[in-house]
Amino acid sequence: MTRTQVVIVGAGPSGLLLGALLHKAGVDAIILERQSPDYVLGRIRAGVLEQVTVELLEQAGVGERMHREGLVHDGCALIVNGQLHRIDLHGLTGKRIMVYGQTELTRDLMEQRQRLGAPIVYQAEQVELHGFDGEHPHVTYRKDGQAHRIDCDFIAGCDGFHGVARASLPATALTTYEKVYPFGWLGVLSDTPPVTHEVTYSHHERGFAMCSMRSLKRSRYYIQVPIQDKADQWSDEAFWDELRRRLDPASAKALITGPSIEKSVAPLRSFVAEPMRFGRLFLAGDAAHIVPPTGAKGLNLAAADVAYLSQALIGWYGQDRRAVDDYSARCLRRIWRAERFSWWFTSLMHRFPETGEFGQKMQLAELDYLVQSQAASLAMAENYVGLPL
Ligand code: APR
Ligand code: PHB
Repeated sequence: MTRTQVVIVGAGPSGLLLGALLHKAGVDAIILERQSPDYVLGRIRAGVLEQVTVELLEQAGVGERMHREGLVHDGCALIVNGQLHRIDLHGLTGKRIMVYGQTELTRDLMEQRQRLGAPIVYQAEQVELHGFDGEHPHVTYRKDGQAHRIDCDFIAGCDGFHGVARASLPATALTTYEKVYPFGWLGVLSDTPPVTHEVTYSHHERGFAMCSMRSLKRSRYYIQVPIQDKADQWSDEAFWDELRRRLDPASAKALITGPSIEKSVAPLRSFVAEPMRFGRLFLAGDAAHIVPPTGAKGLNLAAADVAYLSQALIGWYGQDRRAVDDYSARCLRRIWRAERFSWWFTSLMHRFPETGEFGQKMQLAELDYLVQSQAASLAMAENYVGLPL
């Protein structure tokens, strides 16, 4: 039998960052991850970090490569009616964003943990959580055919939307709120220079499109597609043609295409589970909430949860036994504001066939106001760069 202070389930960004922040404060944790490191690093996800997320990563001691290789952006752009409009994020808010892929950030956190010799068990099967409604929780799992048990003070469920932590709670303990959007994003990663200097979101009658990047040599593009579309139905050529149609003429002309190195369809969903603490079990990141990717809030919200959770746990071990009590309420306040922004930006930018021409006119009027009015641009920019912790 093993003992630790905190068992963290899941080695995505939430679990790894929590592990790093706790380690720095001298709180012991063991991370249990169902997959292999290569599998975890193979998942391609968003890549825009808010300034508060950047600061948290610095605090956790993994800022070095991010500052060397990440791209600092002062603005983003919207394409409306075939015209590109810049939103001056820095001029409006005094803040910037950092473009640095979630995969790279995950790699940095994994490597740091290995260097520190902090424990992490990959390919942990049948993870089960026990006794978290009392004072002595424990976690069981199997690895290489052997059964294991870890006794702990707390369990952190950082195991994503399909994880075991939320599923371990009695149905009556949680209230969930959900909205599923009637389309998906087809994403392509390619080793081609990005067409725009800044992350660009396009409103188009054929559907939403966006241009992002991972570096000055690697691009990430997305187009809105019917939810039933499969990635392999889309040839690279068909993807590039459709993307080009949805951009402003100058960007369409400048677009450099190449073979896709990853292509997948992601569904769009808004989801929140309340509360985020049940006795000695905490939920953090995608285990508790999902936002649609428009606005890139998913990873940033996960980082904010983990900042609050590390403060709560460090406070508890510092003898402030009430430090864990307001974890859920603190998180949820920020989460609902990010849910609202992501829902608003998704609703504004996508083609919703069921809203008809009136719905489209409303979107165009709002977009016109957004790009012309400083007050409206500021409201968007303030949310895009991230609300304070
Ligand atoms: N046992 C152990 N590990 C598990 C289990 C389980 N039963 N179920 C899931 N996991 C692991 C997954 O394999 C994954 O590595 O938990 C991890 C959860 O990681 P993420 O899904 O990346 O979630 P999170 O760390 O909260 O990161 C949130 O990811 O999806 C994006 O938009 C989201 O960028 C945000 C970020
Ligand atoms: C990405 O780079 O993958 C990305 C950027 C911004 C978004 C969504 C995804 O809003």
